[in-house]
Amino acid sequence: MESNNTKQKVFSGIQPTGTFTLGNYIGAVRNWPLLQDEYDCIYSVVDQHALTVRQDPATLRKRTYEAAAMLLASGIDPDKSLVFIQSHNPVHSQLSWILACNTQFGELSRMTQFKDKSAKHPDNVNGGLFTYPVLMAADILAYNAHQVPVGVDQKQHVELARNIAQRFNANYGETFVMPEALIPKVGAKIMSLQEPTKKMSKSDENPNAFILLLDDEAAIMRKFKRAVTDSDGVVKYDVENKPGVSNLMGIYNVFTGKSFEEIEKEFDGAGYGVLKEAVGSCVYQTLKPVQDRYNAILSDKAYLEKVLKEGSEKAIAYSQRLLNKVYRKVGFVQFK
Ligand code: TYM
Repeated sequence: MESNNTKQKVFSGIQPTGTFTLGNYIGAVRNWPLLQDEYDCIYSVVDQHALTVRQDPATLRKRTYEAAAMLLASGIDPDKSLVFIQSHNPVHSQLSWILACNTQFGELSRMTQFKDKSAKHPDNVNGGLFTYPVLMAADILAYNAHQVPVGVDQKQHVELARNIAQRFNANYGETFVMPEALIPKVGAKIMSLQEPTKKMSKSDENPNAFILLLDDEAAIMRKFKRAVTDSDGVVKYDVENKPGVSNLMGIYNVFTGKSFEEIEKEFDGAGYGVLKEAVGSCVYQTLKPVQDRYNAILSDKAYLEKVLKEGSEKAIAYSQRLLNKVYRKVGFVQFK
């Protein structure tokens, strides 16, 4: 990140809970490098968020390195953007406390992700799961980020961050920039290949439902071949009535740049088998170079640690200034 303060800031994060899915990639990560020239970008592997569900410590540690390597392999350039591990910057949790004191129980109770996750893990509805969106607001507000590139499932959380920022500004005076969710027009919600009305998620019990960034060619082709479509055999973009086919067309659109009209023409009368093969093959062609870079980066741990260390040092320096301002505004004693 350059010290040029005239550029607006971008912040986004991803949880190190396993290999990224094609949904993570298309909805979020793939778009992050595209913002590097126009904005000062700050990207974080949010390990603290991952703790809201039970994690095996050794696995979490390993996945955190892997997630950082996947971000770099996806095109984030550490000479242009900051990449760091969330727990390496204590400002996030410090700011989170202040923001929590400016967030209502009712607001947090309305978060759909909290409702979904607490239904999914009824034996572990912990305080962190409930206050998770406050920590996410702190991630964003700690850098006064203007733009937050995310998939559509995170929109509600970004809106909450705006409400918290607005309330703080109203109570204590102008402090935070109002962040905006930057959601891609196509691919903001990549669907499960098995149940195309449900979001593609790595926590799905059926591995055929998702494509992972590190899947090999055979797995990618097999999963697309088995993708659930419909029975009328017409390649047409119609999310409501043909969610499976539309999901495949969305993926194809993103990776080939072809419009839905062009795709409909290309597969006119061809049947779903041909479409599935074409989608599988363009996904593999796109992911292969990312996988190659990933393997090279992950095998150079010294490089990876250097990038993450430098990233966190700069992230701390930047966000600490803002935290000092917040502490002053709320009335905490600060010695000269
Ligand atoms: P996470 O780790 O669940 O997902 C990372 C990003 O991937 C997007 N995404 C999808 N996009 C399209 N289709 C899908 N099927 C799909 N699945 C996931 C998500 O929208 C997200 O952008 N709370 C966040 C991480 C976070 C964060 C932040 C994001 C923590 N602090 C601050 C932005 C700003 C999360 O759990 O994302």
